[in-house]
Formats: sequence, structure tokens, C-alpha cells
Amino acid sequence: MSKRFYLTTAIDYVNGQPHLGHAYEKIITDVMARARRSMGEQVFFLTGVDEHGQKVQQTAQAEGRTPQDYCEGLAEVWRQFASRLELSHDDFVRTSEPRHQEAVQAILRKLWAAGHFYKDQYSGFYSTKEETFLTEKDRRADGTFDPIYGPVTELVEENYYFRLGAHQEWLIGHIEAHPEFIYPEIRRNEVLGFLRHHKLEDLCVTRPAARLSWGIPVPFDPAYVTYVWFDALSNYVTVPAALGDPLVSRALAGHGALPAPGSLELWPADVQVIGKDILKFHAVYWPIMLRAMELPLPRQLVVHGWWQKEGQKMSKSTGNIVDPLAVVGEWGVDAFRYYVVRELDVGPDGNWTDSGFAARYQAVLANGLGNLVNRSLSMLKRYRQGIVPPAGSDLAGEADAAVRQTIAHLRASEIQSALLRIEGLMVRANQYVDQTAPFKLAKDPAQAGRLDGVLYCLAETCRVLAVLLWPFLPGTASRIYRQLGLAETPDRFAAAGWGGLPSGHRIGDPAPLFPRKDQPG
Ligand code: ME8
Ligand code: MG
Repeated sequence: MSKRFYLTTAIDYVNGQPHLGHAYEKIITDVMARARRSMGEQVFFLTGVDEHGQKVQQTAQAEGRTPQDYCEGLAEVWRQFASRLELSHDDFVRTSEPRHQEAVQAILRKLWAAGHFYKDQYSGFYSTKEETFLTEKDRRADGTFDPIYGPVTELVEENYYFRLGAHQEWLIGHIEAHPEFIYPEIRRNEVLGFLRHHKLEDLCVTRPAARLSWGIPVPFDPAYVTYVWFDALSNYVTVPAALGDPLVSRALAGHGALPAPGSLELWPADVQVIGKDILKFHAVYWPIMLRAMELPLPRQLVVHGWWQKEGQKMSKSTGNIVDPLAVVGEWGVDAFRYYVVRELDVGPDGNWTDSGFAARYQAVLANGLGNLVNRSLSMLKRYRQGIVPPAGSDLAGEADAAVRQTIAHLRASEIQSALLRIEGLMVRANQYVDQTAPFKLAKDPAQAGRLDGVLYCLAETCRVLAVLLWPFLPGTASRIYRQLGLAETPDRFAAAGWGGLPSGHRIGDPAPLFPRKDQPG
């Protein structure tokens, strides 16, 4: 067995509402995962939910339920969300699962035994209402705290701290020596700037169980639970640990009852996709945690930007939100997947507009791709009774170039550029229809051979497009194959070579892929 190409997403707070930002992150990761599979690689794609913490505990209590019981329903909502987006994940982690808890406790035991933690007192201003310590930055100009915090009391609390200071220099060195580690470069520079100009403060890795019970018990001190971020970040290796990943199993051996090393090789992750707001956790704390565990660092953090809607921050209270499932319900999952990847390159911030969505749907999906496939197959039916004529090659060179360049972009995780390249081939094929005018050729018996070649090129280009589109629009790609009368799933780039459609093959029935919509929204 060789190592899988291992991709992860952030794990979403289970008590939040699944929104456009969550959907975007999961879809771009899914495109990368499917692309790797299509390249013939063995892939493992992990996503899931982050369940512990104060907010879940409070809401569950308010509803008179146990946090675990309350989370069952929420986790189901997120599983459904993943399935409606047609994610191809191999596993779905919940941080309340025993397999996760056991591995987190093994990590804590190992780090405790190696002297990475110490216990210390912290005194600060504590808001019981918000269940959080406030800092000097939270004070208003007159020195008082905002009434939203309720009564603020000075509190002394003991906790366990993770020594970070000793790690600062090697982490800077690692990021400098591995320019690909943090993508895009602007985020890499942000992390380097932070590390070069701030002395890292030790990280508090516990909360008193008396104050927060909904967490993973600290194995060496039952009066504490694990700080949620320490718990959450660990998911990227606790799932491998539970599956017997050799590196992780060996690193944690002797610290808990975990599966013995098996044959499924996952760690280190190849791509970890996250949003820009959680960069510090992933580019500073996470590498240090791994180093303390004596595990290698992930190869790459891919950091995406944030979406707004109609130029404003999305917010439930103002109603300025994009509900991904409502869009999927109205327009189809592939239209949604297409728009988010096409609209926003991985890195910058994006802006969703309902009119932009409708316009792209109409221009590219309905009039572009849908029309190309529909007229190509309809003409093949009408003029050749649906039987694929002898091969033509007018578009062979352009199709092969598109295949090569699309795969090159996908290898570099440039998924928006890859999609644009595919669109280029689609536009070219539509032009080719206009230039060759098959409906005119069909009227002239002397042009029968020429018409054969044109019809072949169009059908074959539709087939190649289906193969290229599969990582992005898996349902549409499969529907194109069905309409071509092909029984396989177009999930291997190896099938994209020109000439795959055999002469004499009978195609299926064309049907609109993207129904036209006259009224947006
Ligand atoms: O941060 N646009 O969970 P979360 C784009 N549980 N991405 C967005 C977004 C927006 N408007 N809003 C959120 C957490 N995201 C932790 C993660 S990982 C070990 C623990 C992204 O539900 C955000 O950047 O608040 C993050 O990557 C993901 O959604 C989950 O956010
Ligand atoms: Mg958040």
C-alpha cells in the first residue's frame, strides 16, 4: 500500500447554521479530491464537525437535554449538508466520537509525559454571562466593560499551559524553507510577519470541568477538560489514528489503547483547506502540536477567503445570507458548485450576488454547456440516426491541449483556472458549430463526409468535456455520458484522450442539462 493523497477541511461548529462559507470550503476541497482520484491517485478526504464547547453546553442545558443528545440532531444536519453538496468524503469526524476522544487523550498523555505542559495560575476579568475572560482590549474608553458582558469579576483560575516559546525559531525556519507550506503567499507572509515580530505566548490547553463539562476529560487531571481548539485541531490525526495509520499509530503507541499500525497510510496530510480567520491556529499552533507529537507537518495549508453577500457581511439578524441548500433546491447542486468555484479564486474574498449567479447560470451553463451538448447530440440524432460516424479530428489538438492544461492547473490546486480552461474548450466547440454550420452541410449530399467529421468532433468534444468537468460537476458529467449512451462514469482523466467515442456507437437521448430560467431568483 502506498500513501493516500490526504485532504482535510476545517470541521464546522455543529451549532452554527450551514452557510455559503461552509459550503464553499467543502466544495473546493471536494473538487481537489475528485481531481486527484481522476488522475488515478488513491485519495482520502476527511471532513466533519466540531462539537465541544460552552455554546453547545449552554444551548443543550437551556433545552433540558444532554449536550451529546443535542449534538446527535445537529450532526445529522451537517451530514445531510455534505451529502446535498455531493461531497465525496471518505470519512466524517465528530469530535464527540469515542475514537476521537481516545486519540486526543493519547496525545495529551504523550505531551504531558514529555514535559510540554505546566500548570499555572491565571488571573483576569471574567464575564460569567459570556463565559469568557476579557482582556484590556475589551475595555471601553472610560475603562469599564460593555454591559453586554454582564457583571465582570476578577477571577483566579488554574489551568495547564503548552510551552510554545521553544518552537518559534524552527517554525519560522520551516515556513521559510517550504514556500509551498502556506498558500497563497499573502497568508504565508502574514504568518511570518506575526512570528517574527511577536513573542509567542504559551497556549492554555484546558478549561476547568466545573465551568465547562462538555469537552474531552484531561487524562492526567480529571478536574479539567481539553481546550476546544486543541481538541478540534487534533481531528486531522485522530481519524488516521483510529484507522491505524502507521505514522500516527507509532507516534502515539504506549499512550492509549489505539489500533495497531495497519496498511492505510494517511499522515502527513497533503492539503488542509481552511478559511483565513483560522490561519493562526493552523499555521502556528497546529505545527507546534505536531512537532511535540513527533509527527511531520502537513505539506500544504490552502487558505481561502471569505464570502460576503451583495457587498455586505452575511448575518442572520439582517437576513443577508445565502442559504446553500435553498440555492441547490432551486438551481441544482451543479449550478451552485459551478458558481462558487468559478466566481472566487482560492485566496481572495468573494461577493455573492443573486444577479451574478443567475447571469452565469444563463450564459455559461444554459446557453454555453447545455446548448452545446443539446445541439451536438440532437444533430447527430437527426442527421445520422444517433450512430457515431467515422472519427474526425478538427478539434483533436485543441481538446488535447485543454486536457493537458486543465490537469496541470488541478495538480497545482488552481481549480478556478482549471474550470476556466474547460470553459475555453466549450466556447471553442460552440464557435465550431457556428463556423461549420452542420445544418447547411446536411442539405448537400456531396458534403456527407464533411458532416460526419463535424458531428464526430462535436460529440467527442462533449465527451471530453464531461471527463474534465467530473471533479466540478459530477452529476452533469455523468448525465452527458448517459446522453452519449456511455455506461461508465467519467471519473478518470485517462479517458479524456481524443477518439474515445467509437464509430458505430449508438448515443442516448439528448435532454436539457440546465433548464433556462426567465426570472432570476
Ligand atoms: O472555525 N466565507 O468553525 P466555523 C468563507 N470549528 N468561509 C467561511 C465563512 C465565510 N463567510 N464563514 C466561515 C471553526 N467560513 C472551527 C474550525 S478546524 C480544526 C476548527 C469558514 O464553523 C471558516 O473560515 O466557524 C472555517 O474554515 C470554516 O468555515 C468553519 O468555520
Ligand atoms: Mg467561525
